Amino acid sequence: MQTDLERPGQMYSNAQTMRLKDKVAIITGSAQGIGRAIAERYQKEGAKLILCDMREESVAQTAKELSSLGNPVTSVACNVTKKEDCEKVVNVAIEKHGQIDVLVNNAGITKDGLIMRMKEEDWDIVMDVNLKGAFHFVKACVSPMMKKRSGRIINISSVVGLMGNPGQANYAASKGGLIAFSKAMAKELATRNILVNAIAPGFVATQMTDALPEEVRKLYLSAISLGRFAQPDEIAKVALFLASDDSSYVTGQVISVNGGLYM
Ligand code: NAI
Repeated sequence: MQTDLERPGQMYSNAQTMRLKDKVAIITGSAQGIGRAIAERYQKEGAKLILCDMREESVAQTAKELSSLGNPVTSVACNVTKKEDCEKVVNVAIEKHGQIDVLVNNAGITKDGLIMRMKEEDWDIVMDVNLKGAFHFVKACVSPMMKKRSGRIINISSVVGLMGNPGQANYAASKGGLIAFSKAMAKELATRNILVNAIAPGFVATQMTDALPEEVRKLYLSAISLGRFAQPDEIAKVALFLASDDSSYVTGQVISVNGGLYM
């Protein structure tokens, strides 16, 4: 039998195939940062995108810019803490494309503070956006995915959800919760061929980390084996793997993309 290695021409043509051709993907919090980078990767691989973000104009602008790279991109204003908003996004995807293949729960915020000073509302809002937002979207997407007997759910967690971090009790709890949620969903939905995984990025160069004070940034950098923050596209490449056929036997996993910050 001839292997792929003996047929370099075939390998080349396989490498050219778009890995998400005509897959319908919803990406939350995709106006900027990691969500936008994932959208860009997916778009170049032939996906049909539904971008959503609470910042309506920004996400519309992102959708416009990405449309030039491939299929037309749809944007929807959505606050993930509101169940009706999440259902609206899913309905738009179904009305436009008749199916949902990939859901990326990416929208997330921080409201840092030491526990002694952390306000209850800072705990609640971080939980509502980072964890309950994913719950709303999974609930809304599961029925169309079940009907199709296939689907991919990718939850963007954080290294902080694995290792904890002082001053981020709310964020760590939400991201750790997202990992447990992913595993429970992976077990519950496996028989319907819906694969659920989490990505746990380390520090990524986005507006979220731009806000870090210089001395904190230096401290984090000294703990990262690769000695630098990730670029958003380095997270997007893993999100592409989890959305594509390449990960057909991967479910219930947490993929760390942290430059060796936590092993
Ligand atoms: P970012 O702040 O650059 O982008 C987050 C996006 O989510 C923004 O466009 C924002 O408008 C949107 N958003 C916030 N609240 C929302 C809500 N209630 N409803 C809808 N959209 C909302 O953040 P970044 O860095 O791109 O982070 C993306 C995800 O990756 C987050 O879940 C974050 O926790 C996670 N992450 C980020 C890391 C980093 O170092 N930047 C490290 C580990 C995880």
